[in-house]
Amino acid sequence: MAEEAKSSGGDSAVVAAQSHGPDLSSAGAAVISSDAVQNPGLPPHRKRVTELDPKKEKSAERAVYSLFYLSIVGSLGSVLAYMFFPIETGDPAAIRLHTIFVGSGMALALLALGIGAVHWGKSLMSDVEAIDLRHPTPSDEETRETAAEVFAVADEESGFSRRTLVRNSLLGALIAFPLPGITLLRSLAPQDIDPVEVLRHTMWDKGIRLARDNGGHKVGEAIRAADVTVGSVFHVVPENLGTAKDVLNEKAKAIVLLIRLDEKDLKERPERKDWSYNGIVAYSKVCTHVGCPVALNEQHTHHLLCPCHQSQFDVADEAKVIFGPAKRPLPQLPITVDADGYLIARSDFTEPVGPSYWERLK
Ligand code: FES
Repeated sequence: MAEEAKSSGGDSAVVAAQSHGPDLSSAGAAVISSDAVQNPGLPPHRKRVTELDPKKEKSAERAVYSLFYLSIVGSLGSVLAYMFFPIETGDPAAIRLHTIFVGSGMALALLALGIGAVHWGKSLMSDVEAIDLRHPTPSDEETRETAAEVFAVADEESGFSRRTLVRNSLLGALIAFPLPGITLLRSLAPQDIDPVEVLRHTMWDKGIRLARDNGGHKVGEAIRAADVTVGSVFHVVPENLGTAKDVLNEKAKAIVLLIRLDEKDLKERPERKDWSYNGIVAYSKVCTHVGCPVALNEQHTHHLLCPCHQSQFDVADEAKVIFGPAKRPLPQLPITVDADGYLIARSDFTEPVGPSYWERLK
């Protein structure tokens, strides 16, 4: 059984971890030192210049409401910048200006609001230190009345009700501050075009040649059917991609994987028999899960793997999903050859490319 004893004549305590006999200082005893640091208490209160000089107090008040007004200017400036420096598709300079001005307005609004609030607290609100003891909850009537008094005192000391200019400018700044965020929501969807239509169609059309994707904006040579050997894979874009107004967006929708299989391995429905050419098939490279590029081809199993969440598609069987979270096959681009032996599209995709939420629009 544990025992406790105090050493005689000192302010240290000796606690025996276990009782081993009458000698308390034997092995197993721990010494607990008294706290060496004494509470220094509160330093004497020093009044600030704003408490001593009414002129300084007035000038601090002016600075605070000026900062809040500056915050309003920043928020409204950001909204105006959004309207007067719109993002022009494919114009990096316009995007840069839009970002700089909208961002600067928001930064100014937040900075001025923050500095104003800190300045108000440091220079004008009461800085008397107080100790607030904890009480059991729930509060009784008397405590609630006390709390109401505390609020009233805080209101009096901070000048929230009295300094109407400061208070109103702060409220104005807080109301104006979310405006840029609300304005930015407009960019989530184009206003003048139907986003469903924009995403439903690609640049593929009857007679467009299939060309190699050379990365970025670059379009490579058109591909002859004779150049596609069994087992080979090509990353393909429409030959006329360079004529698009927004090349990268169009490419993101139209990108295709061209693969040649042994014809006898292909399982095609009768109505899709003419969608392939001599075992060459073309599928959208945009994963039907959430749109990553499906780019890993297993030549021997004919499986295409999406690296994002491991969806797998069977190239030999109309790119049906055989594993993973994707819910529908990769859309197939119907292809054939022209008189010169170049691979061409028979039409656009017959269904939207990309994530499966399209299914819900049907
Ligand atoms: S995006 Fe392809 S599996 Fe998720």
